[in-house]
Amino acid sequence: MAQEGLAKRLHGRRKGHALKARQGRLMEQLLPRIAVEVEQPAPARLADLFETAPDRLILEIGFGGGEHLAEGAASNPQTGFIGAEAFINGVAKLLSEVDTRELTNVRVHFGDAHDLLEWLPDACLDRADLLYLDPWRKRRHWKRRFISHETLAELARVIRPGGELRFASDWPDYLTWTLMHLRPRTDFAWTAQVADDWRKPWDGWTRTRYEAKAYREGRVPSYLTFTRT
Ligand SMILES: C[S@@+](CC[C@H](N)C(=O)[O-])C[C@H]1O[C@@H](n2cnc3c(N)ncnc32)[C@H](O)[C@@H]1O
Repeated sequence: MAQEGLAKRLHGRRKGHALKARQGRLMEQLLPRIAVEVEQPAPARLADLFETAPDRLILEIGFGGGEHLAEGAASNPQTGFIGAEAFINGVAKLLSEVDTRELTNVRVHFGDAHDLLEWLPDACLDRADLLYLDPWRKRRHWKRRFISHETLAELARVIRPGGELRFASDWPDYLTWTLMHLRPRTDFAWTAQVADDWRKPWDGWTRTRYEAKAYREGRVPSYLTFTRT
């Protein structure tokens, strides 16, 4: 069943160039130690996934090379970070950071983030970050976009009331799409009051690889923040 769901919902590349020897070793040895086991039931207290007894939990979906997640984890040792990424080269990059920086507050789901969302207990997250997810520009591909009524219902279920959903994109049409999906909802409220609230990144922001690419190519990012009501 999970495989059927995955085949239906996961789009985009899963593999790129061959992994370096160290990355291959980390995939074999480190990943099993910090992987989220979505085949097993989730612990009653999600913080028990971590030995560091974190007081906050943050999920990053589609973390790419993991630069934002790794920096967040290094700067906030009392927070637990869970990352979901389907692209093996991205996962391998994050593992290199986890290993080099000896991060003990990171857990990884290598696979479709939808499967992780379904697995997470209710109201377990303080925040979910969706940064530069594939915009699927052509109209016939819009249904592939990660933001959908189904995933927003899951995000509303797993983010605790008062928690936060963050969405960054450099693609105006995906920003409009996201606002159109979120604005009618009663379980999320857009926090923006003035333009700088979506023009400026969040405090402590680490620029991701895709954001750097957007700037190089002349696109301007926006940052949307929603509170789980
Ligand atoms: C455009 S990239 C952005 C990566 C990173 N967030 C950044 O800003 O550099 C989107 C990433 O989301 C991942 N992704 C897309 N759909 C996913 C899914 N359903 N589950 C897990 N990862 C996904 C892709 O593999 C890709 O690495």
